[in-house]
Amino acid sequence: MVLELRNVSYVYPNNVVALSNVSTEFNEGEVTCIMGPGGSGKTTLLLVASCILSPASGEVLLNGVPLCSLLPGVRRRIGILFQDPDDMLFNPTVYDELAYALRQLISDEAKVMSIVMDVSNRLGISHLLKRSTFALSGSEKRRVALASILTYDPDILLLDEPTGDLSIKDKLSLLKLLKNMKMLGKTIVIATHDYAFAKNIADQVLILNNGRVVVKGGLEVFTREIFLKYL
Ligand SMILES: Nc1ncnc2c1ncn2[C@@H]1O[C@H](COP(=O)(O)OP(=O)(O)OP(=O)(O)O)[C@@H](O)[C@H]1O
Ligand SMILES: [Mg+2]
Repeated sequence: MVLELRNVSYVYPNNVVALSNVSTEFNEGEVTCIMGPGGSGKTTLLLVASCILSPASGEVLLNGVPLCSLLPGVRRRIGILFQDPDDMLFNPTVYDELAYALRQLISDEAKVMSIVMDVSNRLGISHLLKRSTFALSGSEKRRVALASILTYDPDILLLDEPTGDLSIKDKLSLLKLLKNMKMLGKTIVIATHDYAFAKNIADQVLILNNGRVVVKGGLEVFTREIFLKYL
């Protein structure tokens, strides 16, 4: 699925202009890393790209069709990982958290369990399934939040700082998992400050500054000048 932002602007109620005339495409089987200083608009871009926030002007298109017109049906095709995992976790146990979305889609609890087991193994959290979602470490919460999206197998993954709190080992397994998703043709967008991670996975890099796209291209955009100026 191709997700496109066309001349998108977004203004928060306090008049902060978080996005200004942003145009970009996120393609199937590609990973786009969105980078830029704190407050440059990365999170806002992901929220607008998933139609959680409606743009003040411009359009968000999914395969050429306005995304917001396809809601709520299209919601399950899009997985969004919030920057703060606490905004996502609300079930009493990790197992329930992972099963939650699936239970809206599948009535066979054995099938639900098998998917939960598979995803939790892939994210190294199967030992946490009986634990309370409120009593986890930062990296555990992030992996549980990511797992809660992967269970319903969305075509588009919008991930806000997915490597935050992760150990090097966990980052490597996330890298492997995302490369696998990319091979399966998923459209992947990652907001991150993690240059090493971006360098290992990005097909496209988008650098924002004050809500504007200042640089767009492949890994060649990572020059000394760009680092000094924006990263
Ligand atoms: N709920 C809000 N209400 C008002 N202004 C907001 C809100 N959320 C973000 N902003 C402002 O919008 C701008 C973009 O914020 P955003 O969170 O998108 O940046 P970011 O690039 O994700 O930053 P970070 O790297 O710190 O996560 C900033 O100026 C921020 O202060
Ligand atoms: Mg952010």
